[in-house]
Amino acid sequence: MTNTIFLMTRNRYMMIYNRLINITIPSRYKDKACRLLLYLQKQPSIKWDEQGEVCIDGKVISNTHIVDLIRDSTVPIGRRKLTAGIHQFYQFLKSTNIPLCLFGNVEKKYDSSLPLIKKRKQKKKIRRKKKQMNTVKIVTMNTSNGIKRQKKTETNLETQKKMMSKVKTRLVVAAIDFGSHGSGYAFSFRHQFEANPIDVSSPMWSPESGGDSFYKTPSAMLLDSNKSLVAFGHDAEDRYSIICEENEQNAWYYLKGFKMKLYRAVLEEKDIRKDFEMTDINGKAISAKLVIKLAIQYLRKHLLDQFEERNIGVDANDIDWVITVPAIWNDACKQFMRDAAEEAGIHGDMFSIVFEPEAASVYARLLPVEKFIGENKSTILKTFDPGTKFIVVDAGGGTVDISTQEVAPNGELKIIHKVCGGSWGGEMVNEKYRIVLTKLVGGPVLKQFKKEQGADYNEMMRDFERKKKTYKLNSQETVNTRFPVSLKDIIADSVDSSIESIINDSTFKGKISTKRDKMFIKPDLFLTFFNESCNLTVEEIRSVLNHPRCEDVSAIMMVGGFSESEVLQDAVKKAFSELDVFVPVDGGLSVLKGAVIYGHNPNIVASRVCNYTYGVSLSVPFKTGAHPESKRYTWDNEEWCRHVFHVCFKADQDVKVGDIEQIELNDTFVTSASQCRRTHPLRAEIYISDKPDPKFVTDEGCQKHAVIHVKPSGGQWPEQVFGWVELKVARTEMIGTYVNATTKERTSTKFEFLPSGYKFTKGEKKRLFDPAASE
Ligand SMILES: Nc1ncnc2c1ncn2[C@@H]1O[C@H](COP(=O)(O)OP(=O)(O)OP(=O)(O)O)[C@@H](O)[C@H]1O
Ligand SMILES: [Mg+2]
Repeated sequence: MTNTIFLMTRNRYMMIYNRLINITIPSRYKDKACRLLLYLQKQPSIKWDEQGEVCIDGKVISNTHIVDLIRDSTVPIGRRKLTAGIHQFYQFLKSTNIPLCLFGNVEKKYDSSLPLIKKRKQKKKIRRKKKQMNTVKIVTMNTSNGIKRQKKTETNLETQKKMMSKVKTRLVVAAIDFGSHGSGYAFSFRHQFEANPIDVSSPMWSPESGGDSFYKTPSAMLLDSNKSLVAFGHDAEDRYSIICEENEQNAWYYLKGFKMKLYRAVLEEKDIRKDFEMTDINGKAISAKLVIKLAIQYLRKHLLDQFEERNIGVDANDIDWVITVPAIWNDACKQFMRDAAEEAGIHGDMFSIVFEPEAASVYARLLPVEKFIGENKSTILKTFDPGTKFIVVDAGGGTVDISTQEVAPNGELKIIHKVCGGSWGGEMVNEKYRIVLTKLVGGPVLKQFKKEQGADYNEMMRDFERKKKTYKLNSQETVNTRFPVSLKDIIADSVDSSIESIINDSTFKGKISTKRDKMFIKPDLFLTFFNESCNLTVEEIRSVLNHPRCEDVSAIMMVGGFSESEVLQDAVKKAFSELDVFVPVDGGLSVLKGAVIYGHNPNIVASRVCNYTYGVSLSVPFKTGAHPESKRYTWDNEEWCRHVFHVCFKADQDVKVGDIEQIELNDTFVTSASQCRRTHPLRAEIYISDKPDPKFVTDEGCQKHAVIHVKPSGGQWPEQVFGWVELKVARTEMIGTYVNATTKERTSTKFEFLPSGYKFTKGEKKRLFDPAASE
């Protein structure tokens, strides 16, 4: 490193380092970091080279990077490992008589050579402790108090490194997607991911009875009377049809649409955290956890068998599993999934959850341009430039989920709008067809047909499904679907009429006709089956675009099986002609493949928008006039105001994975009246609110979200308890931890990072769709 090189390139370095600071240093410390960088630039005795390696007074300090040193001088160290060369760097800063405002890292506890700072820190500590003693306390049991907030932010880089090191331990990441329509899995090896992240494999499924192959198999399961799994997917459907014909349904459990049953149970406010009973297609009760466990077990075994058959040398311990869940699923559903996975043999540390629309966008974001079917490829490429905002429409069988992303400067994804959508996926088209059939032949006849001629019923619906998938927009051809003779016979027996004369007497005259075992549907009528689903999707996208944060969205990416429908694509393209609307080549697999990529690098979704305000219930010293009298109470001879909502993360705030908020929570047990509480656990109560600035946890729109229970070590609290609560954003959850400042004991609880409007948001569209109910 020479002076000349350094001087000649300094401006360029500054640009690069400013950018690096932007990426690696949390926003609240960026200003300070940039000012420190400018200060260093003016110091003749420190230089750094192109790799950032620092040289002080002509001596190279090896393994250093100037940005790391700046970070460790401005961002609280917390539990981070110290950067190489930090000691020399601090000595140097000290020797320059650096103004303290540029050098504000109060956690330089290791640096005894900085007496001034240490003293300041100690003073501050004493002041803080005094304040705690005089004014702060938390109350056990039903209230919690505290003051003063500190923010400790781990850099994304640090969190990312930690998380990457965790996931790097396994050879394979496999993802499972339980769809309302179809289920499947995909996987990739770590080396594959490193070479090409989108190189993800998934098996093809086809019925034993023959027929087309699909990347997902129907979400159907057949269990015998001992509740052992007998068949899954197409085969379960086929075997159940035969069972129906033989009228032996009572000896079996047949489950379809189990995913939405789980969600329905939550909407009905059942406590599903442990388990609940779902019903099979004939109303027989069965443990929901057993069903999901068997489904996971089946797919897991399928993958392991494949590895074994091919002699790949990978065993169960080499695989990290990711399960995709709808973004509207709450904590209880996720916990339920986690437990089911554990019971299926996937240990908690080998398992993670990802939201479906986020997984879809992770995949689509990484696709090269030629993987898109779009009209203007150059514009499509532009879509993924940093700063670009785009909407992902995941149109599945049950639901259409809409999420909005922005590509961050470092290429990560930021979720900028809450996930929305509703239960109007591809199944709604089939449902419209069923409604027409019901109008023609009547519900009881259709029910009898389904019960007595299960195989024919299945074949009729499968044929409709095929026609739906191959329907060409603007086709003038009549759609020809199967209309089994066995159905005709039932009609003749039950209503003493023929289907032909029923049609002639109905509003469908001229639009539908039948001949032998075929039904012919005019294209105009066939198209109407798609109307409601298309209209609702367009309406929902429009409402997202109306949000100020989404005004400059430039593209819509359509993924999920139903996005392959030309009709849906056309509706979206026509409604949003000013935007790029495109569909990845294998859009139906986006969720699965994205989930695998997410499993390899969970930090690819770097930030999310808080849909709720998160905070902790505190008590603060009572101020007459400022606080309502109803909140006043006395504890240890002090007057307190209870139920204060201390906001940690605000609704609509952008939060990053790894962001932490800390709130001091202390307690006292000084007076004789308070002694009886010394053995009780401390309770730190976490609240959410749909308002940005709730004042009290009892305000309208607030709801208790989680509680951290902390037992006194040794069975009894000391007279004064010092500690703090940390709320940490962790992927799809938040983690609340109480840290005892004296003993350093940490008590954590995981709870949901609510990704979308749920339950108490007014005007929310509840998703009550249950494919099984319509079957
Ligand atoms: N080419 C196509 N045209 C029309 N619809 C299609 C096409 N391909 C697939 N579909 C529909 O897409 C749906 C299945 O999509 P997908 O596999 O993404 O759903 P899922 O994941 O099971 O459901 P969800 O995500 O709602 O739980 C089915 O309704 C299917 O009929
Ligand atoms: Mg899906």
